[in-house]
Amino acid sequence: MGYKALGTVVAFLLLAYYVYSPVPENMEEPWKIIFFNSCCKIFVKLGLLVEKLGLMHHGEFFLMTTNLLYTAAISDENLTVTDTTFVGIPVRLYVPTKKVNGLKRAVIYIHGGAISFGSPAMLPYDVLARNLAGRLDAVVASSDYRLTPKYRYPAQLEDILSMTKFFLQGEILAKYGVDPSRVCISGDSVGATAAAIVTQIIMADPEVKNKLKMQALIYPFLQMFHTDSPSYRENEHGLFLTKPLLMKLMTEGFATDESLEQAFAANQHIPAKFSHLFKFVNWSALLPEKFKKNHLYTNPTYGNSKMLERFPNIVDHRVSPLLANDSILSQLPLTYILTCEHDILRDDGLMYAARLRNNGVQVVHDHVEDGFHASIFFITAPFDLRVSFKIVNLYLNGINENL
Ligand SMILES: *[C@@H]1O[C@H](CO)[C@@H](O)[C@H](O)[C@H]1NC(C)=O
Ligand SMILES: *[C@@H]1O[C@H](CO)[C@@H](O)[C@H](O)[C@H]1NC(C)=O
Ligand SMILES: *[C@@H]1O[C@H](CO)[C@@H](O)[C@H](O)[C@H]1NC(C)=O
Repeated sequence: MGYKALGTVVAFLLLAYYVYSPVPENMEEPWKIIFFNSCCKIFVKLGLLVEKLGLMHHGEFFLMTTNLLYTAAISDENLTVTDTTFVGIPVRLYVPTKKVNGLKRAVIYIHGGAISFGSPAMLPYDVLARNLAGRLDAVVASSDYRLTPKYRYPAQLEDILSMTKFFLQGEILAKYGVDPSRVCISGDSVGATAAAIVTQIIMADPEVKNKLKMQALIYPFLQMFHTDSPSYRENEHGLFLTKPLLMKLMTEGFATDESLEQAFAANQHIPAKFSHLFKFVNWSALLPEKFKKNHLYTNPTYGNSKMLERFPNIVDHRVSPLLANDSILSQLPLTYILTCEHDILRDDGLMYAARLRNNGVQVVHDHVEDGFHASIFFITAPFDLRVSFKIVNLYLNGINENL
């Protein structure tokens, strides 16, 4: 038994050494972050290994995290928590029990997880939703959606859009005591992608009468168009979400296809006929000076058009909301964006903030200098980090003050 334990420790240390990446200097609790990051990278490598061995798709392996961290819908003195469905889509609903005069605010929450894992019932998401509902005295509808590899894009968007439209109906809002003029949609990572796309669609849809008052995006992923911005370069082998992993996850939304993955990685997947869209991801023009540092901007290298014939969605704003034109963006509601310095997707959020402001949209932006992608997963002991609590507090305040 003792040898087994020792063997496990040694094996872990060897693996940890193998996946070790240094933590940027400005971070608190560096050893904890190194440990969590190593665990995550080992887990990802195991997922890719079991896929190579033909045992299962890596997405199914990643989904195990969701099942391991499953937590039941438990009500307490302040919140009634139930698992329900909206038009067939599973939703975990948090309704404050305290009776107040007047109607409540509401937040529709979309979880992250690269559209291959995650769920409202995953512990960190449950804790986050409880915080939202409790601290804001708001109704929270935390939505699930179909996942890859079983269901490819746009199944995810269809689910989230129909769930949102269902919730925004007058009689449904009334049933839960929600003020129709104070509804926010929110999410993290690819959940924020969905929130951004759904907001664009809802605001432009004359059939939807109750509009969204705000969107709140936590380190959003907003485009598949340009994979060579400064944050892509600086975080290629960064914490948690590396560029090779991101390229794989991006591809998996559509298909398992190595040629697409390679084209993404080389940033040569967009043919010249889409050159009119490059201005929407032109970080040389859209990023504040401090984020450009000494990176040299070069205009795009055009790629082969066969690729886009097979995956035409890549240039669609319903995949890459940063590519939406000005007339769509100018209709958007107040937007809260949280970006993290040590995140490969940092520049997506920064460029969206810039484009929204250029279109007269009110933007509230928090940038966290010691934050990283996936930070909000670390809010439950013993897997907790001070930076994660800081991010959650900024986010809760951002919504509380603006919704
Ligand atoms: C319920 O709300 C009260 C007042 O905000 C708080 O003190 C208490 O801890 C909450 N209970 C739970 C279970 O969160
Ligand atoms: C990007 O912006 C720079 C100005 O900062 C400009 O010189 C360049 O032509 C632009 N490129 C594209 C493709 O829009
Ligand atoms: C903006 O994009 C939408 C959706 O793709 C399109 O219907 C609309 O015509 C575009 N507007 C302009 C001014 O290009």
